[in-house]
Amino acid sequence: MLNIKYELTTEKKPKPDENNLGFGIHYTDHMLVIDHTEGIGWHDARIVPYAPFSIDPAAMVLHYAMESFEGLKAYRTPNGSIQLFRPEKNAQRMINTNKRMCLPALPVEDFVQAVKAIVETEKDWVPHAEGTSLYIRPFVIATEPHLGVRTSKTHQFIIICSPVGAYYSTGINPVKIFVEDEYTRACPGGTGFTKCGGNYAASLVSQVKAHDLGYEQTLWLDGVEHKYVEEVGSMNCFFKIDGTVYTAPCVGTVLPGVTRMSCIELLQKWGIPVSENRLPIADVIQASKDGKLEEVFGTGTAAVISPVGELRYENEVAHINNGEIGELTHRLYDTLTGIQWGRIPDDMDWITKVCD
Ligand code: COI
Repeated sequence: MLNIKYELTTEKKPKPDENNLGFGIHYTDHMLVIDHTEGIGWHDARIVPYAPFSIDPAAMVLHYAMESFEGLKAYRTPNGSIQLFRPEKNAQRMINTNKRMCLPALPVEDFVQAVKAIVETEKDWVPHAEGTSLYIRPFVIATEPHLGVRTSKTHQFIIICSPVGAYYSTGINPVKIFVEDEYTRACPGGTGFTKCGGNYAASLVSQVKAHDLGYEQTLWLDGVEHKYVEEVGSMNCFFKIDGTVYTAPCVGTVLPGVTRMSCIELLQKWGIPVSENRLPIADVIQASKDGKLEEVFGTGTAAVISPVGELRYENEVAHINNGEIGELTHRLYDTLTGIQWGRIPDDMDWITKVCD
């Protein structure tokens, strides 16, 4: 159990327009910080005013990308209370990430306690408008000043919060996806399953390429054969083909998304066939030609459920469901967001209450 000290600001920032939040633009009044020192462990948990902090220019995070992060949201329910969606899954994923990255991780219960504490402190920042939430960004950085490549002796765990609207400027409208067959995101034995900044930095070259071609995001193929679909830059990806829903298996090269996991659980509960077998991109394109590619959608904490309206692979373009959101995509979106925002009962036991 953390002993969190509070140093609260009296200079509160004005709140942004809730109907025009965008994603990751505004930040709240406070942040949570916990230090970690080799031989001592986690210490000095505190909630302090949100502000730039100083870091030694030789801090290892700045040179060797020794960092990891998480993303989750706090939701305001119709009666005004505030709740989280499966925060223990983010805590466990950070433990798995940090093990691979040689970073220290908080135990699940301390991570959840820290998230609840900062959200409760910032409760006035959890927006009310339809489709908005408070995005919570925990991260761990290696702070020791040292230029030799080895593990760091000091780290910080920090949480910042940002009131957000839709991740894509297109909102719930279908996004256009470019299938990347030149660059590679992840290989077996690498860091593909982790939420480390380096994975995202290395993906940008493809995102720029996709943007230049008029596409919003990249769909990555497996790194060995460039044959099987894996994930989109900021979300996992699902394909409904002839009644069965396919998504890439989490076997080390795909991020185990909390929204991905929740969609699979809902589909199984609804009796809809789900396959986590590897799916060749050629089968997706063929299914499109055969009229059997019924729906494609991405899932993620930031992106929620994002329908995909178009896929481009080499010289082939698959148009999905006439650019409309599919029926199953809609059902998943309504159910998931209904539970998250407290509009429908949480019969999956996914919600953690923060405060009234
Ligand atoms: C999330 O969905 O929370 C993410 O971390 C994706 C992205 C914004 C990096």
